[in-house]
Amino acid sequence: MPAISASAPGKIILFGEHAVVYGQPAIAIPVTQVAARAVVMARPTATSGEVLIDAPDIQTISLLQDLPAEHPLARILRILQAHLGLPAYPAFHLRVTSTIPIAGGMGSGAAVAVAILRAVSAFLNCPLDDATVNKLAFESEKSFHGTPSGVDNTVITYAQPIYFRRGQPFEKLATAAPHTFVIADSGQPGSTAEMVGAVRQRWKTDPRQMETCFEHIGEIVQQARSALESSQTRGLGSLMNKNHSFLQQIGVSTPFLDALVKAALQAGALGAKLSGAGGGGNIIALVETSNAEQVAARLSIAGAVRTIVTTLKPHSL
Ligand code: MEV
Repeated sequence: MPAISASAPGKIILFGEHAVVYGQPAIAIPVTQVAARAVVMARPTATSGEVLIDAPDIQTISLLQDLPAEHPLARILRILQAHLGLPAYPAFHLRVTSTIPIAGGMGSGAAVAVAILRAVSAFLNCPLDDATVNKLAFESEKSFHGTPSGVDNTVITYAQPIYFRRGQPFEKLATAAPHTFVIADSGQPGSTAEMVGAVRQRWKTDPRQMETCFEHIGEIVQQARSALESSQTRGLGSLMNKNHSFLQQIGVSTPFLDALVKAALQAGALGAKLSGAGGGGNIIALVETSNAEQVAARLSIAGAVRTIVTTLKPHSL
């Protein structure tokens, strides 16, 4: 069996996080820079019957059988094993690397899961199609937070901008003009499971107020879709600001994320918001391309641990 590599991009949610868990739409784009990619290689090993996992970014080097069942790498490998109906894996060496910050809101867990599913299934001569990769990656997401919408695994599997609604086939997003975004990592980890759980608690306590916020976010997503389709860049920026203020209201922003959003706007960004589950992780700012480096520099001064400039190219359907 030859060595097989596979990779998957990170993602950024442009609009609609959290509300998407409650049935509202969301818009997400892949981040295709090498600075945000999970890369996995499966290769033969001499040791019979053992799967050796080597994941230097999370300081893990272990046999699969020695990893706790709830370890994310064990979880995805067991999901694949069950899907393929394998009583046991043959021996192989699995190297997992990722430049996507862990717990940074850029889908590191889903990207690693997608890359593992692709590399290991191809290594075993049973390559999976995208729909199956997406389905199995969603199962893995469910084991980490009980109620994922599926937006993260979908945008990462298909690596294209999507308009997404839970439980429905995703739609490709048409975009009329290029848009440049600066992603800034707060360096503070945000746990998706915890943040989604906290939102659910608030929703149970005050369903009316939370549902109202989700509906407003859903309307913003619809308007953002039209703005992207018709290249109303400035309108898109103000929709990002509005989306951020609803994310503040549902309690997922932090003073530091708010400070980064403010710094981006002061540096001339057209709009900015947190992206992903919040509680830490990233913010994203829409910028004029000529101003991207300046906004990125200002975000670093404001305390971002790293910034990525990414461009959403025009896509037609
Ligand atoms: C996390 O990237 C996005 C959330 O909306 C959770 C989900 O959709 O599963 C917060």
